[in-house]
Amino acid sequence: MEDLMQVSQNVQLLTHPVAQAALTILRDVTSSRTEFVRANNLAALILALEVTSQVRASPTKVVTPLGTADGRILLDDRVILVPILRAGMALLDPFRLLLPRAQIYHIGIRRDESTALPERYYPKDLPQIVGGKTIILLDPMLATGGSVCDAIDQLKGAGAEHFFFANVIASQEGLNKVCEYTPQIKIVTLAIDAELNDQKYIVPGLGDYGDRFNGTGAAA
Ligand code: PRP
Ligand code: URA
Repeated sequence: MEDLMQVSQNVQLLTHPVAQAALTILRDVTSSRTEFVRANNLAALILALEVTSQVRASPTKVVTPLGTADGRILLDDRVILVPILRAGMALLDPFRLLLPRAQIYHIGIRRDESTALPERYYPKDLPQIVGGKTIILLDPMLATGGSVCDAIDQLKGAGAEHFFFANVIASQEGLNKVCEYTPQIKIVTLAIDAELNDQKYIVPGLGDYGDRFNGTGAAA
């Protein structure tokens, strides 16, 4: 089975069976918090393996006890991981594990519950981004696209040009908006859902990711 499907120039769908089984548990309304977190961790790991396969490495030589071999040095110091708070934090751990030298810029954005428009709450200003660094945005949910476009806007303002986006469920509307806003972006996701409801939640989606992962919200 192929683990990846190219949907468009910008979008790749992760069809890995372990990731898709994890997604099914994430979607399931009867999944406990423990099951949700475990499924998140699996999905995040496979997403991280896929997205980081596109991080560059430079050739080197390594001396072994018996000779010299060709090797590679990972250029993870040229990467900035950007979890969009809160839910983006759910994806961070495996990216940190695979890219230990990457910088981490947290961006705090929440949707206003009545308008679904993004509201910034952290930071006041991003540090300047120099040297053509690659940004990997982390957010499991892409609904209207307002939050991630706002994060991209802040990052572009700080000098960023190269963007990847690791995501669990995207709406078609959100994908269209992000790709139009940032034509060079590469997005890896586990699912593309067709609709948003009146509250701008993804349907069928999985509900509120941040609340289900953190054990907060009305159902807690
Ligand atoms: C969720 C999600 C995205 C955003 C997606 O965050 O994690 O950041 O909504 O919606 P959009 O594409 O319409 O902007 P939320 O604002 O619920 O905050 P949380 O992560 O703190 O739960
Ligand atoms: N944020 C979520 O957590 N879920 C959605 O469906 C939309 C935004």
